[in-house]
Amino acid sequence: MIMAQMRTGVNSVNRTALWAAAARAHETYRADRLFLDPYAERLVGAEGERLLTEGLQTGSEMTVFAIRTRFFDNFLQETAIRQEQQVVLLGAGLDTRAYRMAWPTGTVIYEVDQGAVLAYKQARLSDVMLSVDRRPVAADLMEDIGGPLLQAGFDHQTGTVWIAEGCLAYLPASHVRRLIEVVTELRSTKLVRR
Ligand SMILES: C[S@@+](CC[C@H](N)C(=O)[O-])C[C@H]1O[C@@H](n2cnc3c(N)ncnc32)[C@H](O)[C@@H]1O
Repeated sequence: MIMAQMRTGVNSVNRTALWAAAARAHETYRADRLFLDPYAERLVGAEGERLLTEGLQTGSEMTVFAIRTRFFDNFLQETAIRQEQQVVLLGAGLDTRAYRMAWPTGTVIYEVDQGAVLAYKQARLSDVMLSVDRRPVAADLMEDIGGPLLQAGFDHQTGTVWIAEGCLAYLPASHVRRLIEVVTELRSTKLVRR
């Protein structure tokens, strides 16, 4: 059902998650690839191949996805992440960082996206052993994400790295501003929301 939705393109936002994963699958096969995403291919399946072969992604679009992926991989691994921290991936889509990267002890990764996208990814990668605490958070980025994050265990006293990769462009500017406010509130020690 979820795959059917993604296949038919009924939900154009989900389709963008497929595009990004298809680009990562493509990059993974390049001899001088910028990263290795061993799970991207099975996430995109036949639909991703079709997206690629029918040219829905141009070479330059794929390059942008690849460079962006490498940029955030580097940022997380070399700069941002220390032990016992949280990572929040806003609009995580079919991002497989929780599955493919090595994480310091105690890292918790919250993946915020539409429930259908997260469920689809989880089903496709259900056999993969995770070495990190990955917590899917089904939420609408245009609504209040604070409640669902707190319910999933988000701790405002723990250092948090926030990544909003390729998702803000789908939101109206007023919602982007509100999202930034919510992120700021979630960082606050004065947080009272439960
Ligand atoms: C282009 S994809 C990027 C996914 C991932 N960050 C990546 O780089 O592969 C955009 C993602 O944002 C999510 N998204 C867009 N608008 C959303 C909303 N209002 N609520 C939740 N997720 C949303 C989509 O479901 C999709 O997975």
